[in-house]
Amino acid sequence: MKGSMGYREEKDFKLRNYEIELTGDQSPTLRPDNKESMHHMGGAAGESVYLYYEALLRFFKDGRLESVPTRVLSFGFGMGYNEILTVLFYLKNQRDLSQLRLFSYEKDTFLYALFNSWLQERGSSQSVFDDVFAGIQRVTLSFESQTLIHEVKASLRFLLENKLWMQNGPIHSVSDFAGPYDVVFYDAFSAKTNDYLWTEEFLGNFFSHHLSPRFVFSTYACTGVLKRVALASQSQFEKRAGFKGKRDSTMISRLAETLTPLPEI
Ligand SMILES: C[S@@+](CC[C@H](N)C(=O)[O-])C[C@H]1O[C@@H](n2cnc3c(N)ncnc32)[C@H](O)[C@@H]1O
Repeated sequence: MKGSMGYREEKDFKLRNYEIELTGDQSPTLRPDNKESMHHMGGAAGESVYLYYEALLRFFKDGRLESVPTRVLSFGFGMGYNEILTVLFYLKNQRDLSQLRLFSYEKDTFLYALFNSWLQERGSSQSVFDDVFAGIQRVTLSFESQTLIHEVKASLRFLLENKLWMQNGPIHSVSDFAGPYDVVFYDAFSAKTNDYLWTEEFLGNFFSHHLSPRFVFSTYACTGVLKRVALASQSQFEKRAGFKGKRDSTMISRLAETLTPLPEI
């Protein structure tokens, strides 16, 4: 669905040639320069939860010591779906937010400015980000209790003010990443738009140097390169069905704390 939706950020997006569109589950997405939309048109919130909330569930499945900080990489901040769902995950599971380290990367940094100004507002303000939150909340409703928007906004402010959430700029080369990361949301557009991010050189380097011994990496694409770098890094490669029949997605994980050493010969 296109056209005016009454969001107060519409003018800011238009100025930068971004169109807001409503997806199938009524959650909004953005389409920069009339090209690729940021999310599946069947449901931006549904897709984000399917791909990235699931990565958090898997990472924490066997219990993770509360005393160890968890480093989450959100590559491609966009509208902040993945940051919101990470905080929701922490709140719903009563995990200690001060043990979260959230690293976002985004080349169009005006997106942070709009998001942060929404974070500072205490009431409802016809912001597109209210609907990003509402979309995620609808999709995750089946996961126990409701979490209120003001709790999520306050938690995101807490992370930002305490430098536990770093809003970084563009990635030009793999060495721009801080790492090592425990959970990775790899969501910075497709090879069509960003070919270098999907090359064997880039991903091989990323898997060799920017992941913790125990990690979960999720992305909406499934490629031969991903499979090769996963296997080369002693991790488990899982081809998952895509969201709503979209092409396959990938979940790569290395969850055993200690890898079996190779036998001596
Ligand atoms: C598919 S959208 C991300 C959607 C986002 N995860 C969300 O939850 O709304 C891809 C994003 O990656 C950003 N991006 C693309 N290339 C990038 C790069 N090299 N470094 C940082 N961000 C990049 C784009 O500007 C865009 O906002």
